[in-house]
Amino acid sequence: MVSDSRIQRIAVIPGDGIGQEVAEVGVKVLEAIAQRFALSFEFEWLPLGASHYLETGETLSDEMFTHLRDRCDAIYFGAMGDPRVPDMKHAKDILLGLRFKLDLFVNLRPIKLMHPEMTPLKRKGTKELDFVIFRENTEGLYVGMGGNFKKGTIDEIAINEMVNTRRGVERIIRAAFEWAVNNGKTRVCMSDKANVLSFAHGLWQRVFKEVSAEYPTIEARHLYADVLAMEMVRAPEDFDVIVTSNMFGDILSDLGAELVGGLGLAASANLNPGKVSLFEPVHGSAPDIAGQNKANPLAMVLTGALMLNALGHGEAASYLETKVEELLALGAVSADMRKSLGQDPQDALGTQEVGEKLIQLIKG
Ligand SMILES: NC(=O)c1ccc[n+]([C@@H]2O[C@H](COP(=O)([O-])OP(=O)(O)OC[C@H]3O[C@@H](n4cnc5c(N)ncnc54)[C@H](O)[C@@H]3O)[C@@H](O)[C@H]2O)c1
Repeated sequence: MVSDSRIQRIAVIPGDGIGQEVAEVGVKVLEAIAQRFALSFEFEWLPLGASHYLETGETLSDEMFTHLRDRCDAIYFGAMGDPRVPDMKHAKDILLGLRFKLDLFVNLRPIKLMHPEMTPLKRKGTKELDFVIFRENTEGLYVGMGGNFKKGTIDEIAINEMVNTRRGVERIIRAAFEWAVNNGKTRVCMSDKANVLSFAHGLWQRVFKEVSAEYPTIEARHLYADVLAMEMVRAPEDFDVIVTSNMFGDILSDLGAELVGGLGLAASANLNPGKVSLFEPVHGSAPDIAGQNKANPLAMVLTGALMLNALGHGEAASYLETKVEELLALGAVSADMRKSLGQDPQDALGTQEVGEKLIQLIKG
């Protein structure tokens, strides 16, 4: 439930490893934004993660799930993954559990260049690289249906089923068109492999045709996923909104992230529009640098901007993005970003210091 009251309650699940460090910065930045734009947020820190699981055996209890669903407006999520839990049981239960139980059917990934030096593409700049990917987030090859027959023998058969429902396909395509309309964009490209997956992606083709007819002001285009991968590199300026299935969205959004600076800036929203949604950076818990004040907090910060947008604070979200651009222009960033900017990583700031510098810029 998303409350109508002025105070918006945000559940913070920092999780494991650098999730803790980047969430701390992310929340401080959101507090500074709230102050500047007179917004009222109540942050509720929740201990879910590997340590909590190892201590209590609890991953995502029914009570916790109900609390998140019914009493919070959004979930701000760090990362999960801890070498002490090699099977990732806690992460699967919590992250996938929330994704499926809250029916977060949109995975929104912005592909936006925030500094001209950060793209590996020649002759492409901030004007050319600015689009979003709508990845279907609850169906496709990720439903975990399938099995093995004669496992471990020379005759083994291994099957994963790909699920595409009429309802699921329609709602993600519609969400992409709605987003285009609401954000002043004019082009939606749907991508599939209907030439091979004629049944499953034949459904995508039919639904795309039907839904696009309801949006005559939006240019509707189709590309097979392999062609789209090439076109995203050759002519990224041709795209505003890309909508695609779970597996292709997973792969293409990582390609997109690398076109605009990589993991350090990659933000994502898992949305059920109008309902409680989950916002997380694309990176993981980075155990190799955890606890060393080396993590780049900007993906978490930009994830915060996506959350601001979803909570109805578009102006504050845009302001935050411009402040991150200023920070990049100043080179006041962590070592990974300095390397991407072609600058000396020796002068890098730590996680906390990046946050402090950004908050200074926000306060103006
Ligand atoms: N959504 C999630 O919670 C999520 C996503 C991916 C991986 N994971 C989990 O995280 C753990 C580590 O996985 P991984 O190493 O494959 O991926 P990772 O994203 O954690 O790290 C990959 C590399 O990028 C670096 N890196 C990542 N984020 C960074 C940041 N903010 N600042 C600076 N450097 C950063 C790391 O140091 C590492 O060298 C695993 O347990 C994995 O399952 C979780």
